[in-house]
Amino acid sequence: MTSPHPQSAAPRQDAAWLDAHWMPYTGNREFKANPRLLTGAAGAYYTTADGRRIFDGLSGLWCSGLGHGRRDIVDAVARQAATLDYSPAFQFGHPLSFELANRIVARMPQGLTHVFFTGSGSESADTSLKMARAYWRAKGRASKTRLIGRVKGYHGVNFGGISVGGIAANRKLYGQGVEADHLPHTQPPAGSFCRGMPPADGVPGYAGAALADELLRVIELHDASTIAAVIVEPFSGSAGVVIPPAGYLQRLRRICTEHDILLIFDEVITGFGRCGDWTGAAAFGVTPDLLNFAKQVSNGVQPIGGVVARREIYDTYMAAGGPDYLLEFAHGYTYSAHPVACAAALATLDALEADDAIARVRALAPHFEAAVHGLRGARHVADVRNFGLAAGLTIDALPGEAARRPYDIAMAMYRKGFYVRYGGDTIQLAPPFISTQAEIDSLVSALGDTLQHTA
Ligand SMILES: Cc1ncc(COP(=O)(O)O)c(C=O)c1O
Repeated sequence: MTSPHPQSAAPRQDAAWLDAHWMPYTGNREFKANPRLLTGAAGAYYTTADGRRIFDGLSGLWCSGLGHGRRDIVDAVARQAATLDYSPAFQFGHPLSFELANRIVARMPQGLTHVFFTGSGSESADTSLKMARAYWRAKGRASKTRLIGRVKGYHGVNFGGISVGGIAANRKLYGQGVEADHLPHTQPPAGSFCRGMPPADGVPGYAGAALADELLRVIELHDASTIAAVIVEPFSGSAGVVIPPAGYLQRLRRICTEHDILLIFDEVITGFGRCGDWTGAAAFGVTPDLLNFAKQVSNGVQPIGGVVARREIYDTYMAAGGPDYLLEFAHGYTYSAHPVACAAALATLDALEADDAIARVRALAPHFEAAVHGLRGARHVADVRNFGLAAGLTIDALPGEAARRPYDIAMAMYRKGFYVRYGGDTIQLAPPFISTQAEIDSLVSALGDTLQHTA
């Protein structure tokens, strides 16, 4: 297939030209020697600069579940850019942000009622952490400042997010962060091959309640009077799709409530469909106090994210706000609730509903689960984990080079016409919601073949 947006000349790809862009989360030296330029996208496929068609096995970066180039979203963006391209985010409003907030609240678990908009998942993480701290201060409990994350957690790249995050490479180079501690991760030992959520005590040493009880140890160490919030992803995507055992999130919720600690769910990956529900909170049956979202809310077409807060949190801020011309929460971004991003998100919500995308994810998930677990026994595969339309494979490490094989595998997949993500010792899959069973089969079969031929 050729690009839907043909370019008159092939883009330059020589190293001298590529040099000026310092690329994010990319091996710049390797990329600029072997560029992978994408020039178009339609449906579940990218087109490369050399005219090849690549199946989008990660929905962009977990954000484009509805597929690319959707006319309804593209038109909404174009219309909004032509009507009101920007509106000051502070002290003024525009109608779309209020409509979007109402539409989002209607899809949240009961009790989550107020949306604070950001521009990304990282901004949502830091917003939620600040919101938690200042909430306790507003309640006269200013000593509650400590933030608790989890090993293997990913909450973006800003200082709050990396402090509570638990992926070592993302934080160890950056010095002193925000005061934080960490719960143990919930990844069962390699070789468990759990399908979906691990059973409550199905994997020895990985019982859900006992893992959550580690929070009691953290409370004993620091005292609840110093702890503002616990932040976790309902399931961790970036660490390689790590699913909590049954009962874990419920128990975490109970401990947080009993000790006056806010529970934050980072749903930047799990929100808006990937779990086969509107939120991971709904999929796992646990409601947090604050819920972060981004990515799929706009199908990746425009950058937008946010934090949804419980009514009592919003009300606390309003009550402590002083005279009503003063700010209640001295926080926000120039691009909070950007009108064009709101238009993309509204069109995305319409499309998720019109296409019955959540039901589609649910219907496709068992086929996806069976396909990825078919890789059990394939060369180098130490573990497979999955939930909804997300899966992670742990790849046996080459001595001293845990990240090498996943990189080799992802590059070989790209040469075959499939985009998958590699990170640490894992390969991650998150195909678009619009994928067919046949497309999932060819993705997984190409991966099986690639594993077989990887040294
Ligand atoms: C759970 C979670 N939180 C936060 C982020 C960061 O989002 P962004 O890259 O939009 O800042 C991510 C990105 O993958 C994520 O998975």
